[in-house]
Amino acid sequence: QTPQIGVVGMAVMGKNLALNIESRGYTVAIYNRTSSKTETVAKEHADKKLVPSYSIQDFVASLEKPRRIILMVKAGAGTDAVIQELLPLLDKGDVLIDGGNTFFKDTMRRNAELDKSGINFIGMGVSGGELGALQGPSMMPGGQKEAYDLVAPIFEQMAAKAQDGAPCVTYIGANGAGHYVKMIHNGIEYGDEELIAESYHLLHDLVGLSVAEIADIFADWNKGELDSYLIEITADILTRKDDLGTGKPIVDVILDRTANKGTGKWSSGNALELEIPQSLITESVYARYISMMKDERVKASKVLPKPAGKVAIDKKAVVEMIRKALYFSKIMSYAQGFEQMRIASAHYDWDLDYANIARIWRAGCIIRAQFLQNITDAYEKDPKLQNLMLDDYFLDITKQYQESVRDLVGLAVKAGVPVPGFAAAISYFDSYRAERLPANIIQAERDYFGAHTYERTDREGSFHYPWYEEQ
Ligand code: 6PG
Repeated sequence: QTPQIGVVGMAVMGKNLALNIESRGYTVAIYNRTSSKTETVAKEHADKKLVPSYSIQDFVASLEKPRRIILMVKAGAGTDAVIQELLPLLDKGDVLIDGGNTFFKDTMRRNAELDKSGINFIGMGVSGGELGALQGPSMMPGGQKEAYDLVAPIFEQMAAKAQDGAPCVTYIGANGAGHYVKMIHNGIEYGDEELIAESYHLLHDLVGLSVAEIADIFADWNKGELDSYLIEITADILTRKDDLGTGKPIVDVILDRTANKGTGKWSSGNALELEIPQSLITESVYARYISMMKDERVKASKVLPKPAGKVAIDKKAVVEMIRKALYFSKIMSYAQGFEQMRIASAHYDWDLDYANIARIWRAGCIIRAQFLQNITDAYEKDPKLQNLMLDDYFLDITKQYQESVRDLVGLAVKAGVPVPGFAAAISYFDSYRAERLPANIIQAERDYFGAHTYERTDREGSFHYPWYEEQ
């Protein structure tokens, strides 16, 4: 049978996506620049409807028209190189889909360039790791809507399914919208990971629990409103012993340095560019950076003073405080992420549908969580919701949990356990709900030294105070 779709790039993500599509009854053309890779995949899965090609010409020629081609190659220059090779072989109306973690502005550029030749270009965020790609990822496609309609039947089958059976894929918006939303997903992923890490740190250092006890707590939390993939795998991780035979929990021998592939940094960079407060994700990016300064930290640990004395706590109460702080802070992080999408949507002219975005994050992706249903509900009720925490459900959580977050951050600071994520969450909350902020002081200073002018509380217009005149 003529392949209905093709995949370029047979590294693990590309291979697994191809196998996923094949498992839904399609014939899939596969191609990799290094032929031996294609050959290995074809041999390993000789029983499947995979059609290998060993030249890009053969690959393109093997496909049903209009051609549908998914690129799963290393983001960046690699993607441009493949596109340049494909371009002379394609016809008007063909659909190229970039499924990598591509920077959304690259996607906007490629979409515009290819559009000139009549080639449709979809930038699609794919989340869920290797297993997700194989069994059902969450997919965030952006580009020409007509082009998406040509691939939608396949994508809807290969995507993860939420509890209500809905596929975790939806058309996100024009040009770079899909990759943008994936970038925000990843920023939120950084935030979730940081908050979990801080919770672990507090349970360990402040409450004094063992790794095994903390594993039980996470497993328990996963039964309630915190129910999510990242909490679930953390509980599992904490039960694992070192596979190299030291007998220790594996987390105790993993070096405390977190690398990154840059998507969190992109989210923060874009927030700065569009002037949107996105403190929680940004603190999570910084937390990774400071973790990488291991040598400096080790030196400083011997020089800089520790807090005086131990903090007396009621263990059980603090464990519950941490749970509440984690949920509260998670809400702040998502509130910031959705706020960023709201402002970006207007800025880049995308008309994003927040209920649909939350809906396709309910399963398949790394940040999948029970509470994405609550976010879906919130935006369904009010598609123009200004900030997530103003929705009734989330407002109620802030009412119930804010005191716990304040108490916990106080204790953490007293005990000297860094909580950049929790502190960012409560600071954002307090800033957002502040009728009056001390920005008047900054504005006065700016006017004082630079005549930058100021606005008044009691009348319209812009004013300059005669700072240098005698009163
Ligand atoms: C996903 C993930 C994935 C990402 C890794 C690594 O949604 O499946 O976001 O796309 O590449 O999580 O990200 P960092 O290396 O930046 O942590």
